[in-house]
Amino acid sequence: MSGIRTYTMVKPTAMRKGYMAAIMNKITEGGFKIVAAKMTRLSKEEAEAFYAIHSERPFFGELTTFMSSGPIMAIVVEKENAVEAYRNFIGATNPEEAEEGTIRKLYGTNIGENAVHGSDSDENAANEIKFFFSDRELF
Ligand code: RTP
Ligand code: MG
Repeated sequence: MSGIRTYTMVKPTAMRKGYMAAIMNKITEGGFKIVAAKMTRLSKEEAEAFYAIHSERPFFGELTTFMSSGPIMAIVVEKENAVEAYRNFIGATNPEEAEEGTIRKLYGTNIGENAVHGSDSDENAANEIKFFFSDRELF
């Protein structure tokens, strides 16, 4: 069964460029209900834990250095079939390959600095939500 919640975050470059509010607005307009949101910053160690699944990939060091380079906006959204719906909504990992009108096309800089994260399975979504939010921060 597909879940109704997924985890997303506005990545540091998009935050630095001032896209946070525009991205949250776009998420809402896309029919996703924001049920948790918090501005925070990952330490290098926390970024490594969050992306542990990618620890063997060549871009792991670059990815975790980048993700800990400044504040992020951590967000939980709700929609039917949330994980798949949200990944389709944000577009391809590489903004250059993302469809017109998607968040990554509109606000992404390059493949590493691609504006937002989106969980890739219900199981990972549940773990990622738990990583950032306690029960009383979820509405
Ligand atoms: P995300 O986890 O951030 O939602 O992105 P994704 O599922 O579309 O892509 P994934 O394969 O999970 O990769 C995680 C993040 O690593 C960076 N990346 N860099 N330099 C590269 O070739 C490369 N490939 C991936 C991206 O920032 C990607 O979002
Ligand atoms: Mg991923």
